[in-house]
Amino acid sequence: MSNTYIIDQLLKLHKQDMVSFHMPGHKNGRLFDRFNYKNFKEMLPYLDTTEIPGTDNLHNPKEIIKKAQLKASEVFNCEETFFLVNGSTAGIYSMIMAATSPGDMLIVNRNCHQSVINAMILGNCSPIFINPEMDIHQGFALGITPDKVEAALKAHPEAKAVIITYPTYHGVACDLKKIAETVHKYDKILLVDEAHGAHLGLSDKLPPTALDCGADAVVQSTHKTLPAFTQSAMLHIQGSRIDREKLRFMLKLHQSSSPSYLLMASLDLALMIYDTQGKYLMESLLELVEDFNFKANKQGILCTHKHTVGHGGIYAIDPTKLWLSLQHKNITGYQLDKRLREEYAIQMELSNFYGTLAIATIGNIRGDFDRLLRAMEAISKIPGNTKLKDLPPFTFRVPEAAYSPRQAVYMPKRQIPLEESEGCVSGEYVIPYPPGIPLLVPGEVINHEIVQYIKIMLKEGMEIIGLKDETCETVAVLD
Ligand SMILES: Cc1ncc(COP(=O)(O)O)c(C=O)c1O
Repeated sequence: MSNTYIIDQLLKLHKQDMVSFHMPGHKNGRLFDRFNYKNFKEMLPYLDTTEIPGTDNLHNPKEIIKKAQLKASEVFNCEETFFLVNGSTAGIYSMIMAATSPGDMLIVNRNCHQSVINAMILGNCSPIFINPEMDIHQGFALGITPDKVEAALKAHPEAKAVIITYPTYHGVACDLKKIAETVHKYDKILLVDEAHGAHLGLSDKLPPTALDCGADAVVQSTHKTLPAFTQSAMLHIQGSRIDREKLRFMLKLHQSSSPSYLLMASLDLALMIYDTQGKYLMESLLELVEDFNFKANKQGILCTHKHTVGHGGIYAIDPTKLWLSLQHKNITGYQLDKRLREEYAIQMELSNFYGTLAIATIGNIRGDFDRLLRAMEAISKIPGNTKLKDLPPFTFRVPEAAYSPRQAVYMPKRQIPLEESEGCVSGEYVIPYPPGIPLLVPGEVINHEIVQYIKIMLKEGMEIIGLKDETCETVAVLD
């Protein structure tokens, strides 16, 4: 009998030789092998160290970490870069709490990551939500229009800052440059969650980077789309709108006092790859994606983003995010995802009823795309029997807020059946996953539309995160 659980399972999965269209961006370490860092994997135990003479200190960098961060600020073209070892999550907490004070209001796209709301719970701020445009048929959010941002700024002159997700998980980029101009016209701070866009600077064919668009602070999950280990991320700053001393304090507050050197080393390596070969590798990747899209479309098996730039708040689309759908063959995204994994050893990033998302990075090779194409061809030959059109489209209105998320978190709660919760105030998050957009944030009033939507979608097998009751039959409401 084995003495380890996690290691055994991870090695077992590794032996299945899965094609990775998911995070992390290094794709099973393949990129390290290609970069004369084949022995990087063998070095790992020696790189795992702590603050001793010669290793510097992330919380007060003076030597090697300072040099690496300086290089990152040059490569990413900003004034200052901070390495993050607790994911973009820690960067989001820190930048929001550096830009605000308790009691402040923050304008934010509703399809933000949970960490943005959590930062407001920690920092005692309240959200003013802007609805993204939606693709109700594919079930995910599109762009945020500059007009909506301006309307929110006009309606809430007391707001301290604006935070925007750019690009979205699905690769949709809004007109961030215009949004930045608008936000700065109102003399507010623009924070950007660029968790899914660390690679954008590698090609002009990709949406422009948040820094180029004029954001004041930008968080990137290096681990998601570049070759760095999971949890390693960066925070970039430019201009004078962010109080740097306050930011340093917040970073100390939110990050481990024993930052992982493995993660910092992997950021260092990702930076080197980005700087020396990144553009060339991205060019090759974009050719592979184009070739894949062409062949797949020709065979009628692909239904990627049908969205047109210029509509739905879309300024540009990141082609490295591939949305695959066989809904015209009555095959759900869940079924497609499962079949790709179980029958063809291809692991996707996420799926919903309508389709499944592949995250391609500079770590993917032609063979990966060939395997995906062959698998899609084979699966599409046998139509399924799920009529996707019968499902309710994902329209979504921001519910009325009775309390701020922080107030709601600290108030007494009771558990009641979902069926009876209409009119009550939610004490917890309700986040259908995907799309990962909160239906309810703590402190919001549960309405009829939400109860009905949850009931139907649960029956169809949608996962809901945030609820204490895993069966989702009951919900915590304020007492
Ligand atoms: C849009 C967005 N922002 C932030 C995060 C948090 O990033 P991390 O996992 O690096 O903490 C995620 C995670 O998936 C995300 O999707």
